Amino acid sequence: MNMATSLDGKITTFEHLKVRIGSAEDRRRMELLRKRADAVIIGKGTLVTDDPPLLIRDPQIAAAREAERGAPHPLNVALSSRLDFDVAGARFLHQNPAPVLVLTTEAAPAAARAAVAAVAEVEVVEATPDGRVDMRAALAALAARGVTQLLLEGGGGLNFSMLELGLVDEIFLTLCPYIIGGVTSPSMVDGRGFTKDAVRKLTLQSVTPHDSGELFLHYAVEQERASVRDSETFAGGFEIR
Ligand SMILES: NC(=O)c1ccc[n+]([C@@H]2O[C@H](COP(=O)([O-])OP(=O)(O)OC[C@H]3O[C@@H](n4cnc5c(N)ncnc54)[C@H](OP(=O)(O)O)[C@@H]3O)[C@@H](O)[C@H]2O)c1
Repeated sequence: MNMATSLDGKITTFEHLKVRIGSAEDRRRMELLRKRADAVIIGKGTLVTDDPPLLIRDPQIAAAREAERGAPHPLNVALSSRLDFDVAGARFLHQNPAPVLVLTTEAAPAAARAAVAAVAEVEVVEATPDGRVDMRAALAALAARGVTQLLLEGGGGLNFSMLELGLVDEIFLTLCPYIIGGVTSPSMVDGRGFTKDAVRKLTLQSVTPHDSGELFLHYAVEQERASVRDSETFAGGFEIR
């Protein structure tokens, strides 16, 4: 997973605007991660709000990727269980020099599937009981296409699903020197959230401060959960370790 957040963990304002909060150095680091990845994946919310072709714009990084792997950009993957977005207006689909794959479910109407299939690849995968794309099935479909390094770029809903299933190995987080605030402002990990017994535990790999005021953080995601115990000093409370 690679994300840029404000100091308070938000990825956009409560207005859900299309905003970029990372610096040029953040962009460069993101493109180096894209260079390493076979594919980059986003959820429908990010597709609709940001509509971003997930490209490598730095000519040197793109050329290096092309020399090493035969293509300047990784496969661009988006998830939408019903394809209920503005397919005709999506730049991600229509103005994207990278190869594009949309993962969906049987719930997507045939007309919407055909509209996406006219400009990108569409693959129907299993749905979860609540009708979303089953992420294990999605990752199996990607693995069958030779994807072994998958870069997850949000948003918070998809990030939660992937963490919940133990499908995230590493987190690269750019902590940006801003406060966005707001109880309804999207954060790096949204979804339902974890109960105290299911809090995910991370191990710090590196911290790199930068002149921009950003901190570039790299964590490994542990398979074991954080441990929880009654607090001796915080009456009635818990300590997560
Ligand atoms: N600062 C950053 O680094 C950064 C990066 C990315 C995004 N963002 C921001 O994040 C916001 C979007 O986040 P979001 O949480 O609303 O949307 P999201 O995580 O991008 O997409 C979630 C949507 O994906 C679809 N989906 C299908 N299967 C899913 C599954 N198993 N688990 C989760 N989602 C599944 C669902 O739509 P269906 O039910 O229709 O299938 C779901 O509503 C935008 O405001 C964007 O600007 C910021």
